[in-house]
Amino acid sequence: MNTLPNIKILAMGGTIAGSAADDTDMTGYQAGVLSIELLLAAIPQIKQYANVDGQQVCDIDSCDMTEEIWFQLAAKVNTLLLDEAIDGVVITHGTDTLEETAYFLNLVVTSEKPVVLVGAMRPATAMSADGPINLLNAVRLAASKEAFGKGVLVAMNDEIHGARDVTKTNTVNVSTFKAWDLGALGYMNNGKANFYRMTTRKHTKKSEFSLAGLTNLPQVEIVYAHANQNRCIIDAIARAGVKGIIYAGMGNGGIHMNAEPGLIDAAKEGIVVARSSRCGNGCVVASNHKWEELQFIKADSLNPQKARILLALALTKTKDVIEIQRMFDEY
Ligand code: SIN
Repeated sequence: MNTLPNIKILAMGGTIAGSAADDTDMTGYQAGVLSIELLLAAIPQIKQYANVDGQQVCDIDSCDMTEEIWFQLAAKVNTLLLDEAIDGVVITHGTDTLEETAYFLNLVVTSEKPVVLVGAMRPATAMSADGPINLLNAVRLAASKEAFGKGVLVAMNDEIHGARDVTKTNTVNVSTFKAWDLGALGYMNNGKANFYRMTTRKHTKKSEFSLAGLTNLPQVEIVYAHANQNRCIIDAIARAGVKGIIYAGMGNGGIHMNAEPGLIDAAKEGIVVARSSRCGNGCVVASNHKWEELQFIKADSLNPQKARILLALALTKTKDVIEIQRMFDEY
């Protein structure tokens, strides 16, 4: 028996487990086809840093991520981390919804032990595939003392990011995960985790959210603002019974004049409306007095896809918009 940390690897699929016909194919491959055993066999060096044990949770292109899989994953992570023998969890995941799974787990994982998500932009069969080094770094990060208590982390391209602020910014480049203005939390320098800052927002052990007793989340949909907008999508999702709407507004969460009456009617029916932004950077703060009087939630610096997750979890606890705004200010 050695004294290395014990890291469990949960495999979800994605490009990191993708396979192409030719080693020059960087797109047009099939995501999520290689098993976690095959991925680990490609990096025997991992055994120098941790005792690893892989488990396949699903094998999907993360474009097809579902709430059902999230519930299953969160339960697995929480159960594993209760085990004193497990020091951390690494999750291999497609990059397309990686940031959403990371933020969801950041809010519902109950342990301070490291949880690190990792993916790849090039399939495992590609020349200069980024998956092996990313996975090695993710395990080194999860095995490090430095990662304890930092919330759910993302290890990609030698950078360490926090789940709340990171987003995929480039369709194909390996340097795609960024936290824009707020920046990376640190770097994997020569395989060592170096942190320079940490998030001030609540996560994991301090989170008030729990999936206990739940089988699904209240439905929250995103409406994307654009020129020449009308209210038809808002009316359709209101009729479909959504409980919350994230309006991915223009600039500081600005609402098109033709969409606004739709959102006002939705709010009158008890649907919680939150203003986020399609800008991808910066905060949504109070602006138009009418939207403040209507108590539309301000999504702070959460992008629309993360605001959707926080609003859905918030709605499991309350419909009180003052309380929901507090949650957006804290998480
Ligand atoms: C996916 O998200 O599963 C496909 C794309 C990727 O992993 O880069």
